[in-house]
Amino acid sequence: MRDMHGREIEYVRLSITDRCNLRCVYCMPEGGVQTLRHEELLSFEEIVRMLRVMTSLGIRAVRLTGGEPMARRGCLTLAKMIRDIPDISHLAMTTNGILLKGRVREAADAGIDRLNISLDTLDAETYRRMTRGGDVADVLAVIREAADRGLKVHINAVPVRGVNDASLVQLAALARDLPLDVRFIELMPVGYGKALSPVPTEDVRAAIEDAFGPLSPDPAPHGMGPAVYGKPAGFQGSVGFIGAVSHAFCGGCNRIRVTPEGILKLCLNHREGVDLRALLRCGASDAEIGEAVRQAVLRK
Ligand code: 5AD
Ligand code: SF4
Repeated sequence: MRDMHGREIEYVRLSITDRCNLRCVYCMPEGGVQTLRHEELLSFEEIVRMLRVMTSLGIRAVRLTGGEPMARRGCLTLAKMIRDIPDISHLAMTTNGILLKGRVREAADAGIDRLNISLDTLDAETYRRMTRGGDVADVLAVIREAADRGLKVHINAVPVRGVNDASLVQLAALARDLPLDVRFIELMPVGYGKALSPVPTEDVRAAIEDAFGPLSPDPAPHGMGPAVYGKPAGFQGSVGFIGAVSHAFCGGCNRIRVTPEGILKLCLNHREGVDLRALLRCGASDAEIGEAVRQAVLRK
């Protein structure tokens, strides 16, 4: 399936819940937010049907996101259902890791082959403060187990001025000590992120190079995202940087998104979406759903 700019679209990000077990300072208020009701969410059966239709249009890879995907009951059952769809060849999850504690093997058995784990510091007190209650030891246990099991692991860290800037070099060292990539994502000035100050990507890079020496450019493909990677000498994995406001990567963007309530979104920067849930629940045929997706992607 190609859009009007000739970009091949084969990757869908699927948010399966708006709930989370954590309350990160840049994401949520302390008391949490009003969440969707269960019947507003696409059911597992609706998700599988939608994805089957999407594979007929060329979708081959799925990433489960949230909120925290593991906060939805049966998440790993859903993962297995998705992995059993013929033509889905990659299944990833973006997670804070906590609820995977003791369940990494189950996740691997369900067919999850990549984990993007959000982790902003290795310091227990700073982690507790940034996530308002999380225990970093749980995340580290999950990271080690996932790496041991040969899952592809990316750590995503958001540097925040005055909060975790002292933790960034130590975080990068995870890519030295374990076979995984660490990516620094510039804080986006949206939502609760507006009240906080980003650490510019160049500053993070300079701190990493001060500590570990120059990054040799690492042109090997790293999944399908927009990160720029480099590798300090002696590192097993790479260190990546994702600037928040650069749009330089739009030309290579091969992703579409579906919200928990089944709205197909084509780009973070555009508001419109296609209500797939309405189609799924009003008796539309697979062909009609597929045509709605194809038409929407053509406009991407
Ligand atoms: N800016 C940058 N990254 C953010 N995330 C959540 N909110 C923001 C923001 N305002 C990140 C999380 C996680 C990923 C899913 O999104 O830290 O790594
Ligand atoms: Fe938000 Fe992710 Fe933190 Fe949960 S773990 S509060 S979804 S940033």
